[in-house]
Amino acid sequence: MSNYHIKHLEEYYQVYRKSVREPENFWEEVAEEHFLWRKKWDAVLEWDFSKPEVTWFKNAKLNITENCIDRHLATRAHKTAILFEPNNPDEEAQHITYKELSERVNQFANVLKEQGVKKGDRVCIYVPMIPELAISVLACARIGAIHSVVFAGFSSTALATRINDADCKMVITADGSYRGAKTIDLKGIVDEALNKCPCIETVLVAKRINSKINMKQGRDQWLQPLLDKASTICDATTMDAEDPLFILYTSGSTGMPKGMVHTTAGYMIYTAYTFKNAFQYKENDVYWCTADIGWITGHSYIVYGPLLNGATTVLFEGVPSYPDFGRFWQIVEKHNINQFYTAPTAIRALAKHGTELVDKYDLSSLKVLGSVGEPINEEAWHWYNDNVGKKKSPIIDTWWQTETGGMMITPIPYVTPTKPTYATLPFIGIQPCLMDENGQELKGNQVEGRLCIKYPWPSMARTIWGNHQRYKETYFSAFQNKYFTGDGALRDEVGYYRITGRVDDVIIVSGHNLGTAPIEDAINEHPAVAESAIVGFPHDIKGSALYGYVILKDAGESRNHDNLRKEINQAISEKIGPIAKLDKIQFSNGLPKTRSGKIMRRILRKIAANEMDNLGDVSTLLNPEIVQSIIDNKL
Ligand code: WTA
Repeated sequence: MSNYHIKHLEEYYQVYRKSVREPENFWEEVAEEHFLWRKKWDAVLEWDFSKPEVTWFKNAKLNITENCIDRHLATRAHKTAILFEPNNPDEEAQHITYKELSERVNQFANVLKEQGVKKGDRVCIYVPMIPELAISVLACARIGAIHSVVFAGFSSTALATRINDADCKMVITADGSYRGAKTIDLKGIVDEALNKCPCIETVLVAKRINSKINMKQGRDQWLQPLLDKASTICDATTMDAEDPLFILYTSGSTGMPKGMVHTTAGYMIYTAYTFKNAFQYKENDVYWCTADIGWITGHSYIVYGPLLNGATTVLFEGVPSYPDFGRFWQIVEKHNINQFYTAPTAIRALAKHGTELVDKYDLSSLKVLGSVGEPINEEAWHWYNDNVGKKKSPIIDTWWQTETGGMMITPIPYVTPTKPTYATLPFIGIQPCLMDENGQELKGNQVEGRLCIKYPWPSMARTIWGNHQRYKETYFSAFQNKYFTGDGALRDEVGYYRITGRVDDVIIVSGHNLGTAPIEDAINEHPAVAESAIVGFPHDIKGSALYGYVILKDAGESRNHDNLRKEINQAISEKIGPIAKLDKIQFSNGLPKTRSGKIMRRILRKIAANEMDNLGDVSTLLNPEIVQSIIDNKL
C-alpha cells in the first residue's frame, strides 16, 4: 500500500482511516518519504483550537523552492515546468524547463536581495498571468520574503488597502496586461495606489505590452536589465516549518479583506499530496488550471502543488472568450492537456455557446476534469461531463477555501464514484462534521447543517495578518473547538457531502468571494446615497449576481436614475474592482428592518430571487409596509 498515491477505493478507505486514527504517524511518513528537509521536526503536530494555535513539523527547517525546483534538476532538468500560453493565440507558447525555471527564479531572488528585500519582508505582487508572476512568487519564497499576490484585476484602492495592511516594502508589477482584445494599464493603477502607500520603497516593472508608462525616479525600475545582470545561483534561505510563506487576501462578510497567512511546511506537504491524488498526476502529463495565480487556486494548484510533483503546469494569460469561445478547447488540443481544472462559472459561460466550438477540437487527451470555487449546478455538471469529458473523464468537484490552503472534500478520480453536485468524500486527513444551530454535532447520514472541521490539517491558515483576534472570532468561535467554514452542507445516505452555499454575508459571483459590507460602503460614499443593501440572486452564468437596494438622500432626486446607476457601479469599480459591479440597482424608499434596526436581508434576497410568495411573516418588522413597495418596484 502506498500512502502517497491512492489508486482504488479500498485503498482510499484504508489510508483515510489511518490518517484519522494516527494523523501524526500518517503525515510524518508522507513528510519523510517525499520531501527535502534541512532539519527534521521535533514534533509532528501541536494544536489548540481555543487559542487557536497550530504547529506542524515543529522546528523543522526547509525551503519550499528546493522542493519545487532543485530536487527535480537531477531527473527533470529538461522537462517543461511551466508552459506559458499567451493571450494571443498567434504568439508562440513558451516551454520553461525546470533548469530554466531554476535559473530565472534564482536571478529574480538575487535581484530582490540586491534591492534590499530580506527574510520576513512583505512583497506585493501585482502581475498579470505571465511567467514573471510564478517566478516572482518562487523568488520570494527562495529568500524567505512573504509574498502577497493581489489579483491584477483589482482596482487601485483595493490594491492600496492590501499593500498597507501587509506593510509591503516592494511592489512587483508589469507595464500593462492583455485581456482578450483589451489592454489594461497596470502600472497606472499601481501609481495611483502608491499615492496612498508610504511603505513602498521600490517598484519592479516587467515589460509585457510595451506601452509608454511613467517611471518614478528613485522608486521604479525595469525588471529585465536587473535580471540580466544577476547570477543564476542563489542559495535558498533556511526557513522554519512555521515561517509564513505568503499572505493572501479574501473577503469577509464585514470589514477589511482578511490577509490569510499560510506557513511553509504544512502547506507544502498538503498541496503536493492533494495535487498528486486529486488529479492522479502521472509523469509526462500536462496539467492545466485556468484560475489566476491571484487566487488561492492558482497559488496551490498552478504554482506550488504541480511544481512540488515535478509536473508540467500550464499558465494561460488570456480569457475563455478570446478570440472566440472555443479557446479553452483549442488549448486542450494544442497542448494535449490531461487534467483540466476550471470554475463552474466558466463552464456555464461556455455552455451558453453550444457544443459546436467544443466538438471542433480533439479533446481525447483529457483524463480528469476539475471544478472549484462555487457549487456546480446539475446542468453545468452534465454539460461538462457529456461534452468535454465525453462521459469518460471523471469530474472532481473540489470543495475548499483560501483559508484551507488545499482541497478538503473532493472525489479522487478513478477511485471515488462521482455524483453530480456532490463534492463527495473528505480528502485524506480531513475530518469534517455538520453542526446544528445550537452547536450540536449532527451525527449519522442524511443530515444538513453548518460545515466545520474537527481536527487540524497541515495547510490550514494559521492566522489573519496583524489580527489574530479576528481569526479566532471568525473561524473558531461559532462552534467550540472546531474550525467553522462559513458554508452549509448536507451529508447524503452514503456519507457524501454536498455544499449548499455560504451561510454568511459572503456572495460568490463567478467564483469570486465578495463581502456585502465593503460594497455597501462604496455605494454609500456616493453623495446622493443615504443607505444601501446588497444581496445575491441566481444568475445563469455567474451562479449568483448582485442586486442592490439603494435609498437616495433626496427621494425626489431629479437626476436620471440610469446615470446614477452608472455612477454607483463606477464607484464600486474604483473601490473594489469591476467584478463587484451590481447587475441590478433598485431605488427604494426604505429597507425592511427589525425593531433593533437590522436590515432583513432574508426578505431582500427572496424578493431579488422572485420568491415573493415565500416571504414569511413580515408583520414583526419595524416598517412592514416597505416590503410591498419594494415588491411593486422590483426590477
Ligand atoms: C465556495 C476557492 C461548492 C465555498 C478554492 C467556499 C465551493 C468558498 C466549492 C471559498 C465547491 C469553493 N462547491 N462551493 N466545489 N469550492 N466553494 O476562498 O462557499 O475563493 O467557502 O477558495 O467558495 O472560496 P475561495
